[in-house]
Order: sequence, then C-alpha cells, then structure tokens
Amino acid sequence: MAGASTKIVLGIESSCDETAAALVRSDRTIVAQHIASQDAAHRPYGGVVPEIAARAHVEVLSPLIAATLADAGLTLADVDAVAATAGPGLIGGVMVGLVTAKALAMAGDKPLIAVNHLEGHALSPRLAAPGLQFPYLLLLVSGGHCQLLVVAGVGRYRRLATTIDDALGEAFDKTAKILGLGFPGGPAVERAALDGDSRAVPLPRPLLGSDEPHFSFAGLKSAVLRANDSGRYAPADIAASFQQAALDCVIDRTRRALAVAGPVSALVVAGGVAANSTVRAGLENLAAEHALPFVAPPPALCTDNAAMIAWAGIERLSAPGFAPDPLTLAARPRWPLDPDAAPARGAGVKA
Ligand code: KG4
Ligand code: ZN
Repeated sequence: MAGASTKIVLGIESSCDETAAALVRSDRTIVAQHIASQDAAHRPYGGVVPEIAARAHVEVLSPLIAATLADAGLTLADVDAVAATAGPGLIGGVMVGLVTAKALAMAGDKPLIAVNHLEGHALSPRLAAPGLQFPYLLLLVSGGHCQLLVVAGVGRYRRLATTIDDALGEAFDKTAKILGLGFPGGPAVERAALDGDSRAVPLPRPLLGSDEPHFSFAGLKSAVLRANDSGRYAPADIAASFQQAALDCVIDRTRRALAVAGPVSALVVAGGVAANSTVRAGLENLAAEHALPFVAPPPALCTDNAAMIAWAGIERLSAPGFAPDPLTLAARPRWPLDPDAAPARGAGVKA
C-alpha cells in the first residue's frame, strides 16, 4: 500500500526507436508500462531511420500512454508529474515525446520534468537496487554513448571518459551488419558468439593500457570488416572474438577509471549494452577484484524504456529545491551529462 507521501510519475521515452510510457512510484514500483519497438520498421534499412522513427512515435505514443494509465486504473489527475526525455537523441522523436508531455502537463496542471535520456540510464540502477548510494562509478554503454561517469548525486555527474569514435552499442550494431546477423545488432552478435571461439580471430584492443580511461572502437570495427572479407573465419568465430575484444577494452578502461575515480560505493553498468551477459559477467569479476558491489539493472531496464525516465522524474521531484521545467523548454539533440568535461583528445563531436 502506498503511503501518503508516495509520489507517482508518468514517464515518456521517444528518443530513438522505442516508444514507451510508464508509471513509476517513489517506492520503486513500476505500476504499469508499455514499450513499442520499431525494429520491424527499421530492419529493411539495417539501422534507425530518423524520419520513420518520428512518424511511428506520433502514431503510437498517445494510445500507449492511455493504455498505461488504464492498466494502472489511473487518470492524469492521479499523477504527480509528467517526465519526458528532452534529449539527447533523434530530434524528431524527442520532440514528439516532449510536446506530448507538455500538453499533458498543461491539461492536467502537473509539473513538467524534462529528463536527459542519459540521466535516465544513469539513475536506472537505483530503481532496481534500493540500496545503491551515491557516489558510484557508472559505465554507460548504449547505441550512441560510451562513457565512464562518477554519479555523485541527482544532477551531479563527473565524466571521466568517453569514446573518441564509435559507441560500444554502435560497434556491436556495425559488427552485426558486417556479419549479416540482422538488426538490432547487439543481441544478434551475443547470440552468434555463443557458437563461436573467442580466440579464433586476432583482433585489436584499441587504447588498451592508455592513461586516460577513454574508449575507441573504430579500429576494432575495421578489423572485423577485414576478417570477414578475408573469408577465413566463420561468422560465429568473428562475433565471439569481437565480443571478447570489446569486453577486454571495457574491462581495461573501467579498471583505469576505478583507479582515478576516488571513493565510490559500487561499480554500476547501464544502457542497452548492459543487457549483454558477457559484459555483465566481466564487470562483475572486476568489481569483485576491487571488493565493490556490482549493480546492473535487469536487461529490460537496460535497453530504452520509460520506467527509467519516470524514475529520473521521481528522483528530481524528491531532490531538494525541485522546480518544474518551463513549457517553453526546447528539445536538445545534444545534451552532455557533464558539460564541464574536457573533450577527449582525437574525439569527434559526440557529447
Ligand atoms: O540504451 P539503448 O536501448 O538505446 C540508446 O540509448 O542507444 O541501447 C541500444 C544499444 C544498441 O546498440 C544495441 O545493439 C545494444 O544497445 N544492445 C546490446 C545488447 N542489447 C542491446 N549490445 C550487446 N549485447 C546485447 N545483448
Ligand atoms: Zn538509451
């Protein structure tokens, strides 16, 4: 039974190719949620097509929110705030979710909470693990981002590292494309790797041992392409060898980050690639080596969803000095969690 001070937030996510709505309570109950995947619409193109994504969000978002409220037996009047991803992401899709949230906030006279999608991922482990305290070291690995951050509190993020080229999820997706494994790539590579030998194909481990804990995956991806073009290796062996090389990089870079992060309460992983069992197992060992608890949300909370956006809304609502966001707020295609982080040497424009 929810107590009198229990809050409930409606969360909306539409920054990439999942349309999602969720109702989450401050006691960490996911009361109801719906996720509509657009995989089938994008599959013929082998990647997410922004215009197709935005149009699909328009079609499904409102009925999805209505279904989420109906499942919970609630109406807009019952929620304490409306939270939506306001960036970073594909701008057309972000605008669909944000404008919908603004309309609901206005119609229901509810506070609007504009959530940074990366903050949704960064705080999602606290939805799954009630005991997780700040500060923690977070490896955020998704389709668009690959970062190591010290999460010191709600809205307090110190970025220790980022990728100088591709994100880890992107490397999985490109490897899947090269190997003809289909879309979305990450789960397909993980499945294919089960039947492969991870030592069969010699592949590089970019930036291994380098001083700053940054990532690079472009060279690994090119090596996968060359290995495949050579015709000497089975796709399963390439998939397994790629996954192992990527994991070796992740472990080495995270170990380096642990050395420079200062005191942290736990090693935490979030974002779509955190659904990968090999990556989870490797990080769990690394945490044990450092006598740290390891926290990874259940796979369904790792890939894009609206429960993490609603939860970020709850965290914001519960933080001292909460102020709702203005209805004039604009969607942001780029929105770094740590605006003060120095750009990684050799890095492109990714935030
Ligand atoms: O967080 P997410 O759902 O969306 C973004 O914010 O980008 O992450 C999607 C990424 C994709 O690159 C996808 O291939 C990857 O996460 N991914 C995985 C797995 N599941 C999803 N990568 C490796 N193994 C998986 N099991
Ligand atoms: Zn994401």
